[in-house]
Amino acid sequence: MKRSTQSFGKTADGREATLFTVTNDNGMSVSVTDFGATVVKICVPDKNGNVADVALGYDTVKGYENNDCYLGAFVGRYANRIGGAKFTLGGKTYELEKNDNGNCLHGGFDPYSTKMHEYEIIEDEDSIGIEFSRLSPDMEQGFPGNLDYTVTYTLTNDNEFIIEYSAVSDKETIVNFTNHTYFNLGGEASGSIYDHLVRIDADAYTPTDKELIPTGVTASVDGTPLDFRTEKPIGRDINADHIDLKNAGGFDQNFVLKTKAGDATLVATLRDPKSGRKMEVYTDLPGIQLYTGNFLKAENTKGGRSYKRGDGVCFESQYFPNSCNVPAFPYKPLKADEEFNSITVYKFIAE
Ligand code: GAL
Repeated sequence: MKRSTQSFGKTADGREATLFTVTNDNGMSVSVTDFGATVVKICVPDKNGNVADVALGYDTVKGYENNDCYLGAFVGRYANRIGGAKFTLGGKTYELEKNDNGNCLHGGFDPYSTKMHEYEIIEDEDSIGIEFSRLSPDMEQGFPGNLDYTVTYTLTNDNEFIIEYSAVSDKETIVNFTNHTYFNLGGEASGSIYDHLVRIDADAYTPTDKELIPTGVTASVDGTPLDFRTEKPIGRDINADHIDLKNAGGFDQNFVLKTKAGDATLVATLRDPKSGRKMEVYTDLPGIQLYTGNFLKAENTKGGRSYKRGDGVCFESQYFPNSCNVPAFPYKPLKADEEFNSITVYKFIAE
């Protein structure tokens, strides 16, 4: 395994960003930056050994400063939507930023994906990790508690890209971290992912209203276009006449997983029949958002090109959206001095 660092450019306000690249013995590499703890590149061989970058993104830090589509973004303090942009904790109601139709999306207007992080390299014989850390101050984005967190990205010789989160707060708070990498196993510039095959091991999902706030119940996937228990192409049912697909303009739903905290379980696979690249998703979190880039529109991306709707697909492991406001959903606030931990693994195979 080897690693290198290079400049990733300067932000408009003069912060110097660094790009860290780790390459394993199979020729797979991952590049991440301290700006936002963002995933910039994931370069994976296909069945013939040809390497392509399967993560959508930008060439320099500049693109990530106004990253409205959250390409490669680490998302905090609370992933996805919080209905009405507020929640109550210990009898107190906290108002958040309304950056999405009166709701709070991915933390609000001041996302973690624009914050500079400290870093530390963790080297082993068969893996190299980069641990990013930061203190999110009390009431940043409107959330209580000084939150000390780490995001560790590790590449192994088994072609696993491991994402681990940990956090501790000095006051009771809520935390829901995710990663918003858009994958295109044909290569980031290869266009639509509608012919990629998806499997998700979920019998249920969380229906939403028109603003994509969960209604508070779970519904069976049985007999619906949301049944991914048998692998199927993304494009097959994306335009089906189903209320949840209409509300979201495609696939943008949270699936209810059969996972256990601390135990990374295989929950989903993505496969590109053309290149033979396959990705397995493992997590210990209770939910995963399948998001097929329905709102994706990004200019001046890698190579000076652009991305449009359907050019990438996200598998965002998470606590269910708005779970801080829905007692029926599996979620517990983080107590003062208690440690938050979660793990998600994207493993790459070529066949
Ligand atoms: C996803 C979310 C989508 C959309 C996207 C960002 O996590 O489910 O509805 O907001 O982020 O464009």
